[in-house]
Amino acid sequence: MNACRKILAAVILSGLAANVFSATETTAKTKVLEGTQGYRDEINRPPEPYTGPPRSGEQVYAYRCAACHAKTTQGAPMPGDDIEWGLRAKQGMKVLMQHTIEGYKQLLMPPRGGCGNCSDAELKAAVVYMLEKSGVKPPP
Ligand code: HEC
Repeated sequence: MNACRKILAAVILSGLAANVFSATETTAKTKVLEGTQGYRDEINRPPEPYTGPPRSGEQVYAYRCAACHAKTTQGAPMPGDDIEWGLRAKQGMKVLMQHTIEGYKQLLMPPRGGCGNCSDAELKAAVVYMLEKSGVKPPP
């Protein structure tokens, strides 16, 4: 009987522990999402078609990337931060562009940096712009 109670208590306790753990996890995730909802709505709006001449890195940066990168929103590296960009550049341009195009870190960095009407070349120009602003040589 006593052993039975002990087992029961252990089962209840481990259930509680699991609940507390998952509740904390959910809260942490929700917090991140709450903080990002405003700009997520903004960047998820269907892009206006763009048919003009190719935009420079600086123009693309101002059009979309600055929304997060100018303020380190959710940890977005700022242009001018040579340490952050220096470390990221070590991954090589292929990986940087893959993260830019597909999105990165549970899409805190959104696919195409939220610029649905940017070409791959325009996105690359924006990445190069942020690297150069940080005094980091764009990697091969
Ligand atoms: C909604 C916010 C947001 C927008 C808009 C945004 N970024 Fe980011 N970006 C992030 C965040 C956050 C990170 C850092 C993710 C991490 O490493 O935790 C990041 C990281 C990056 C990285 C580094 C990836 C790596 O591998 O380390 C590149 C390159 C990048 N962004 C390019 C761009 C470009 C180009 C644009 C504009 C076209 C853009 N981003 C727009 C949030 C954003």
